[in-house]
Amino acid sequence: MNAPREFLDFGPDAVLLAGLNGDNWRLADYVKRGGYEALAKILSAKVPPAAVVAEVKKSALRGRGGAGFPTGLKWSFMPQQYAGDKYVVCNSDEGEPGTFKDRDILRYNPHSLIEGMAIAAYAMGCARGYNYIHGEIWDVYERCEEAVAEAYAAGFLGKDILGSGFDFQLHNHHGFGAYICGEETALLESLEGKKGQPRFKPPFPASYGLYGRPTTINNTETFASVPWIVRHGGEWFLNLGRPNNGGTKIFSVSGDVERPGNYEVRLGTPFARLLEMAGGVRGGRRLKAVIPGGSSAPVLPAAIMMATDMDYDSIAKAGSMLGSGAVIVMDETRCMVKSLCRLSYFYYEESCGQCTPCREGTGWLWRMVDRIENGEGRQEDLDLLNSVSDNIMGRTICALGDAAAMPVKSFVKHFRDEFQHHIDHKRCVVAPYL
Ligand SMILES: Cc1cc2nc3c(=O)[nH]c(=O)nc-3n(C[C@H](O)[C@H](O)[C@H](O)COP(=O)(O)O)c2cc1C
Repeated sequence: MNAPREFLDFGPDAVLLAGLNGDNWRLADYVKRGGYEALAKILSAKVPPAAVVAEVKKSALRGRGGAGFPTGLKWSFMPQQYAGDKYVVCNSDEGEPGTFKDRDILRYNPHSLIEGMAIAAYAMGCARGYNYIHGEIWDVYERCEEAVAEAYAAGFLGKDILGSGFDFQLHNHHGFGAYICGEETALLESLEGKKGQPRFKPPFPASYGLYGRPTTINNTETFASVPWIVRHGGEWFLNLGRPNNGGTKIFSVSGDVERPGNYEVRLGTPFARLLEMAGGVRGGRRLKAVIPGGSSAPVLPAAIMMATDMDYDSIAKAGSMLGSGAVIVMDETRCMVKSLCRLSYFYYEESCGQCTPCREGTGWLWRMVDRIENGEGRQEDLDLLNSVSDNIMGRTICALGDAAAMPVKSFVKHFRDEFQHHIDHKRCVVAPYL
């Protein structure tokens, strides 16, 4: 169950993951680290819910699930005066290839999520919440069940929390292991017991969410950051990072590095420093490319990445997305055609099939990249890859279509010569190194 110790080296600036050793996840350990102080503080002082939302706004916390939407602003969309049920939902589906941070929060610090969700529920006037956990990770689900039971027993969840009159019931829900169930409205459908397919928007979940009621959905890491904001103040959190990019962020570094793992650093840390923390490129090889924010983020060549800082705005300026913070490192031995082929197959396989451009287009993209990879590519395929991608983007109910198209466009843009070599010579440009 517990990872090797060396894996639990989260970096000197860790906040969310600080002091975790694999064995200190229980409520008593969390309380020793100052856990539940933030919840107790707002409940005992009867801090107005709007003041909590204002503090989260001040912190410049941006959603850690992919889009980087400002969390405080999202919370302010919840109708305060609504008299019926309202919900907070945690997105612990974590299906984006390369991303493996939320499961570590849930494994090693589950109470930080529980406290964050309770604070969010208080701020938005919700009495019930759900934590939707990816269906393929049983150990994490079981741990969350134990942690939630501990929190109920200690009076941090349930009725009249800490004698304040505030009620909050939290339930873990074990999902179905489909990538599409991470899309927030597909997640809600799945939570309601239906097929996990995205809904048309608008209406957005803040007005029509779970069971048609106002709902706020945030990522695991987003909620887990909230106790820190309430304990130390929005400004403190903001100053950990950069303006408009508050706090620390957990980056799941994988691929061709010496020490793959989760590293928590301040937003704005240079990519070169993050790479160094992960032991550098494996075997001392040269860096070729990096996908900086999970498989759906555009790939960037080494030279651009080495000059870029790890925050939402810097990565966007460099031409990609911080996304979920999954940093996939590729060294000089990687074939970009083969890498894209693998990614494209994933999106083809995971498209829910609801929208024609995505259902048909993802298969088309994969088959084209596959034939280029296998020496059967045609010259016109390169432009066709771009045009099929353009015809998917922005034409689907959810962003899975965009997620499938963006890698294709960026791989062809930055590494066109490799695709051309495959077409001209019917073999790979890097094969001799492998
Ligand atoms: C196909 C697809 C898959 C997604 N998967 C996840 C996921 O696994 N976890 C997640 O937090 N957000 C995922 N998202 C983003 C969510 O829809 C949503 O934006 C997020 O949960 C909001 O939380 P945040 O504001 O805290 O980031 C996905 C989006 C799409 C389009």
